[in-house]
Amino acid sequence: MDSALLYALRDQAGVPSHPVIFLILGVLTFALHIAAVQMMLGASALTLWGALSRNEWRRRLAQSMLQVAKVMVSVAIVVGVAPLLFVQVIYDPFWYTANLLSAWWVIGFIGILLVAYTLMYVFFWRNEQLASRKTSCPGSMVLSLVLMLVVGFIMHVLSQQMLFPEQWLEWYAPGGQLDTSGTGIHAFDPWRFAFFISLSAPVTGALLLAYQRYLRPRSEFDRAYLDWVGVFGYRMINIGGVVSLLIGLVWMLRLPDSHTAFTATPWPYLVVATLLAFVAFANAMRSRIDSAWAYSVLGVGTVALIIVATAREALRWGVIHGVHGYNALDYKINMDWYSTLTFFITFAVLGGSVLAYYLTVAWRSGQSNGQYVASATVDRMGSIAIGILVLWIAHYFVLGFYWWAL
Ligand code: HEM
Repeated sequence: MDSALLYALRDQAGVPSHPVIFLILGVLTFALHIAAVQMMLGASALTLWGALSRNEWRRRLAQSMLQVAKVMVSVAIVVGVAPLLFVQVIYDPFWYTANLLSAWWVIGFIGILLVAYTLMYVFFWRNEQLASRKTSCPGSMVLSLVLMLVVGFIMHVLSQQMLFPEQWLEWYAPGGQLDTSGTGIHAFDPWRFAFFISLSAPVTGALLLAYQRYLRPRSEFDRAYLDWVGVFGYRMINIGGVVSLLIGLVWMLRLPDSHTAFTATPWPYLVVATLLAFVAFANAMRSRIDSAWAYSVLGVGTVALIIVATAREALRWGVIHGVHGYNALDYKINMDWYSTLTFFITFAVLGGSVLAYYLTVAWRSGQSNGQYVASATVDRMGSIAIGILVLWIAHYFVLGFYWWAL
């Protein structure tokens, strides 16, 4: 496709900071998004597996995983917004065209997500004592999981459609007849989608290793159950890791001709090496999973996902820049120091203090037997976090009034 047309679709106002910042943040936040998505999908699947079984340990695990799934949906949504912002800033000609071509699905995405999340809560409300009582309404959880996958599939379609500018016109006006309905799904790659979904198994396996270690100090969780969770976590890492690699291999072998240059770059091989290294590292930790080393598997998994996300970006860059001649890094910069600094300071100071407080409370409450009472220091951390939040909100009003008064 003529790159002049792609450049003409750009936002003429330019971008408020160097595009490389958006590019890097886009990759990092996508890695966080997909990690949360994978934990949510893995935890949902384990919830169903346990809920449909009579085995005491599976049901116990299901009860815990339902809590994980609920939280991970909200984390996936929050850290899904970030890559959404970054991708539409630097790849706007591609992202918006892909969105317009399937506009009904983009809007439907929100409705489907709302229904999926509500159904998860319906299952939760009907099964608050999942470990000890008969499962009620498992269909709600099955449908929730299926709809979550539909939501992910819509995102996949958008990510895929943006990579085929040479076909946009044919999709928009098939045979010369305009189709402005926005109801079509024009491009998808089942192997690419399956690759990201299948990584849920090793990622959730790493989560299980952390879960069994986290609960060890608690007297109501017996050792035999936690050992079983550990063994199961390893099974998910080993089998899931190999299955994901095989699916990834098929994805690479079936890349369309215009994308195959990617296989001549080091990225796909780096991903294979990274995933194998992750599985090897996890297994090397096997004798230490009742110690704090159990958490390191999750840490190494996060690094591995960042490398996978970088390779995914390299594929996109190779197509958009290499094949279609569009360079996202030559975007006109209309430097806005204020918003750039506000972003990073908000992230570091507000995000840092609130997260530190939440994580401390979550960590300590999970580690204590009986009712948790926060210490004076933790209380103070909470007050500081709220204080910073109030200041942050107030600063927008002060700024607004300042500009209004000028
Ligand atoms: C909760 C269910 C969700 C699932 C299962 C899911 C799954 C996925 C998957 C599999 C991809 C990778 C697609 C590909 O590369 O082929 C993806 C990408 C993406 N997701 Fe999600 N997602 C979910 C929710 C969300 C939400 C709520 C948002 C935003 C508010 C979001 C934003 C994104 C964005 C922006 C991308 C593409 C990023 C890019 O191309 O740089 N996702 N998602």
